[in-house]
Amino acid sequence: MKKRVLGKHGMPASVVAFGAWAIGGWKWGGADAQASVKAVQASLDAGVDLIDTAAVYGFGLSEEIVGKAIEGRARDDIILATKCGLRWDVESKTLHAESEGRRIFRTLEAESIRWELEQSLQRLGTDYIDLYQTHWPDPETELDSVVHTLETLKDEGLIRAWGLCNETPERLVHAAQLGSLSTDQERYSLLDREQDDQNLPVCEEHELGFLCYSPIAQGLLTGKIDGKRQFAEGDLRLGNPRFSAAALDAVQAVLAPVKALARDRGVPTEHLVLAWTLRQPGVSHVLVGTRDVEQAASNAAAGSIELDDEELAMISQLADAWPGFDAFKPA
Ligand SMILES: NC(=O)c1ccc[n+]([C@@H]2O[C@H](COP(=O)([O-])OP(=O)(O)OC[C@H]3O[C@@H](n4cnc5c(N)ncnc54)[C@H](OP(=O)(O)O)[C@@H]3O)[C@@H](O)[C@H]2O)c1
Repeated sequence: MKKRVLGKHGMPASVVAFGAWAIGGWKWGGADAQASVKAVQASLDAGVDLIDTAAVYGFGLSEEIVGKAIEGRARDDIILATKCGLRWDVESKTLHAESEGRRIFRTLEAESIRWELEQSLQRLGTDYIDLYQTHWPDPETELDSVVHTLETLKDEGLIRAWGLCNETPERLVHAAQLGSLSTDQERYSLLDREQDDQNLPVCEEHELGFLCYSPIAQGLLTGKIDGKRQFAEGDLRLGNPRFSAAALDAVQAVLAPVKALARDRGVPTEHLVLAWTLRQPGVSHVLVGTRDVEQAASNAAAGSIELDDEELAMISQLADAWPGFDAFKPA
């Protein structure tokens, strides 16, 4: 497993991280708690040391499962990343989403961040977070105030480093000037490359870690999802235009040469996809959503795959030819 630092203010962590959204069940049609605990443990056993969760994933459940999975393990061997700023228990001026009968609000006020951190520490069964991230910007709280809060928590030893998610290049630069910003976390994959000329150049210039979320496009880039796949009620992929028959066909067409190369090399398609992603300028880590022991073992193995220049160029050519998901949005 390769390791890279989480930005110049961060610590080394495995390039493949355990993405813990789906094990919270929410938005993924539920999850089996026992299988989830085993998946986290299998991932750690296979060399992954970075776990990315969030308070809102399963409304605390994802963090609880991670806490259970790491119980009794050496805390120093694990890099715990979690997020704050989406609350389902209080209201703010900014409604983020309504889902499964709950209203989720954005807030990054100092007292709220501190309260959320205490809850996360309890659920995870630890007394510090390695990388504490804001989940979404809060339009009601100045970035300067957010940075001040995070720096204070860092000075107090409650967090070791901090990062932002779902940000603009301008705000990243501002945050990097104000304090010890370590990472940015954004959607990025072979099929989602909006960040190529947005946040990625900023991360390179300011030596920030760039954590790719949804790096296998929520399963599409495994090449295993076809028209026969039935998504459970409550799974965000059900009825999603990204998973329409037309989009699935187009993804299969893009992936065909990668699948052929994967067959030749004797590895799963997503290993090559993830290896390509990790070679993109500015990208430091991939957060791969993992639901069971088999996926855990396989996704971890992707962290030691190397591509030669010819393979890299071939996959880049395919990625450049992808028309984008907007082509599959209903008119
Ligand atoms: N900061 C943010 O706003 C934000 C937003 C989204 C995600 N994230 C983070 O990024 C992580 C990853 O993103 P994501 O979960 O949206 O998408 P993803 O990693 O692209 O896809 C994850 C899904 O792909 C399938 N999968 C995973 N490994 C597989 C394998 N080896 N073989 C076949 N299928 C496999 C699983 O679903 P099935 O088995 O059900 O097909 C899994 O739930 C999240 O867990 C979270 O930590 C952050």
